[in-house]
Amino acid sequence: MKSDLVLLAALAGLTQRAAAQAQPYGQCGGVNFNGPTSCTSGWTCTYSNPYYSQCLPGGNGGGGGTVTVTVTTTSYQYSTTTVTDYQTDTVTETDTVTETETVTEGSPCTTDGPGPTGCDATRSFDLLGVNEAGAEFGTAVPGRLGKDYTWPTFDSIQYFLDRGLNAIRVPIMLERVAPPSSGLKNPATYNQTYLSGLYQTVSYITNSGGKAIIDIHNYGRYNGDILTDVEGFGNMWQALSQWTAFNDNVIFDLMNEYHDMDNGLVFQLNQAGLSAIRSNGISNLILVEGNSWSGAWTWVDNNDMLKYLTDTAGNMAYEMHQYLDSDGSGTSDQCDSDTVGADRISSATQWCEDNGVKCFLGEFGAGSNDQCAAAVNGLLCALKSSDAWIGATWWAAGPWWPSDYFQSIEPPNGVAVDTYVPLLQSYV
Ligand SMILES: *[C@@H]1O[C@H](CO)[C@@H](O)[C@H](O)[C@H]1NC(C)=O
Repeated sequence: MKSDLVLLAALAGLTQRAAAQAQPYGQCGGVNFNGPTSCTSGWTCTYSNPYYSQCLPGGNGGGGGTVTVTVTTTSYQYSTTTVTDYQTDTVTETDTVTETETVTEGSPCTTDGPGPTGCDATRSFDLLGVNEAGAEFGTAVPGRLGKDYTWPTFDSIQYFLDRGLNAIRVPIMLERVAPPSSGLKNPATYNQTYLSGLYQTVSYITNSGGKAIIDIHNYGRYNGDILTDVEGFGNMWQALSQWTAFNDNVIFDLMNEYHDMDNGLVFQLNQAGLSAIRSNGISNLILVEGNSWSGAWTWVDNNDMLKYLTDTAGNMAYEMHQYLDSDGSGTSDQCDSDTVGADRISSATQWCEDNGVKCFLGEFGAGSNDQCAAAVNGLLCALKSSDAWIGATWWAAGPWWPSDYFQSIEPPNGVAVDTYVPLLQSYV
């Protein structure tokens, strides 16, 4: 894959060398880029990341949208040593997975058909995979890499990609990106150590053929309080999207699990993120979450107004979460019934279909027992049975889960690996 990318980059360079100047929004620099490094009049070649500089209007985005976003362009200093290390990193795959029986008893989707066992839905998900937790761990700010937080391992990411699971959601902590002392409005002050870890993770995923979901895992909070700096949130996403939109396989998950806050503020924050990213000319998929922990089972009651969000690129989806234990919190390994998965998303599915929007289940999980496996199978089958759902990611893989955490799908020994890797694979 990497050699293909280099070849493509070289070809792109050849075709662009004829033109004296790069096109608006076109590439104008980056590793292995041989094309023109200046832009047509009125556009400025703007450094995004080590792999990509881009012609942007007026040097920094074009405005537009409903939120005024101003960002000081920063030149990010990337360590060459780190890039070299990354490029020479080799991944060895040694894990093997034993197929386990898929329990379908009592599932709402029990028809034998061409799809996974017990599910006759045949269309494909765009996104199916796992969360890779760790960079959002702990409370220390900025925290120390390897002590307070960690990044997912390339081996773990590769394990899922090798099995056809293409989506990797990467939770990050906003305070570690934007130090509270200088706030959200000043991207020039953002922490480049933490961001370089994010760049390496996202680059690895997308260079290996996967889709990387960047998730601001902050529950609608910043520095201990409800996040009210709507403009700053836009500034942050404008900068972060500019720095990380390496290619179309990078996905922006604006904010994880808003809760106990004003619905109007949730709407404004989401709209600010949408408008800010689009003002950069970036059309990558954007995921927006809702209030009340973005729960699928309560979505219609709490988040109906989010249907009024506007996306000028027409490439967004509503991200919901759903756990299958009695209170839906994901803290018990017992499931209420064989059908609780399908039951809990049915009203949300109806909402997505009624409003003609795409939806995504960004977190789900359950214990490794027969009843939960049936419920998860029923959930995935129900998702797959509606065109509205573009996919789902299991919570969670990650190198730091305790060995007995029941939803850990970290290979090779996470508690959920044996039951749920094969089940997820059957839905690829
Ligand atoms: C940036 O974050 C790292 C941890 O990711 C931390 O060690 C470092 O002190 C932070 N830098 C600044 C300037 O705060």
